[in-house]
Amino acid sequence: MLCCTGGYMFEFLKKNKPEIKIENEKLKKIPTHVAIIMDGNGRWAKKRNMPRIKGHYEGMQTVKKITKYASKLGIKYLTLYAFSTENWARPKEEVSYLMDLPEKMFNSFMPELMENNVKIKVIGVVEQLPENTQKAVLNAIEQTKNNTGLRLIFALNYGSKDEIVSAVKKIASDVKNEKCDVSDINADIISNNLYTKGTPDPDLLIRTSGEQRISNFLLWQVAYSEFLFTKVAWPDFTEAEFYNALLVYQSRDRRFGGLNEN
Ligand code: FPP
Repeated sequence: MLCCTGGYMFEFLKKNKPEIKIENEKLKKIPTHVAIIMDGNGRWAKKRNMPRIKGHYEGMQTVKKITKYASKLGIKYLTLYAFSTENWARPKEEVSYLMDLPEKMFNSFMPELMENNVKIKVIGVVEQLPENTQKAVLNAIEQTKNNTGLRLIFALNYGSKDEIVSAVKKIASDVKNEKCDVSDINADIISNNLYTKGTPDPDLLIRTSGEQRISNFLLWQVAYSEFLFTKVAWPDFTEAEFYNALLVYQSRDRRFGGLNEN
């Protein structure tokens, strides 16, 4: 009789986890917009006795993989939470590494972004980023501006509460200047004053690494998004994990508060 202790059994199951087989033809309902909270880089590195920044480096490799796969599947918008307004509270070295990542990433990834017709966009307060980060981001936006495929949107120095505050200020100023009346304010006017103006709300929000919270990400926009939480840390998130998330998404019954009469 085979007898395993809990820990051994866990390791056994982990190593022998059945591979997810990608069969793209099974994807019948591709979401237009997928948003991802790329969490778990630090814990991934710590578990391997590596510095946290190594987790972010590997996380960047995952960004490249998932971008190419999303583009191949015909997803129109992919929004990635790369740095929140709260992340400035991290140790200086980590913040500085994270701030250098856009430059590293666009330097190495630009040919493939062009090949895949990917258009870069950023949401968040870009003007507060270090100069080299701003330059890297603005260059990438400029270089990809005529691409018509996947919109790859990085949330950088992004906070949803700040975004909503800024929208409220703009609308209040329009009211004050008599460009609009208080009675005109509606959900569309609010959406049109957010950083995400013109981008449809996410159909699917994925958060990796087992945490189940929104962390100040797209609070207004996820009102009717489907949520998917996976225990896999972002550096280990593969095309197969993404494919699996899309299978789960297509099995969901989206009613938007109404009824599906079948
Ligand atoms: C959260 O993991 C991840 C981040 C704060 C940074 C995510 C950034 C990348 C994956 C690279 C993005 C690339 C570009 C080009 C901007 P964590 O550090 O909070 O992990 P933990 O919860 O395990 O500590």
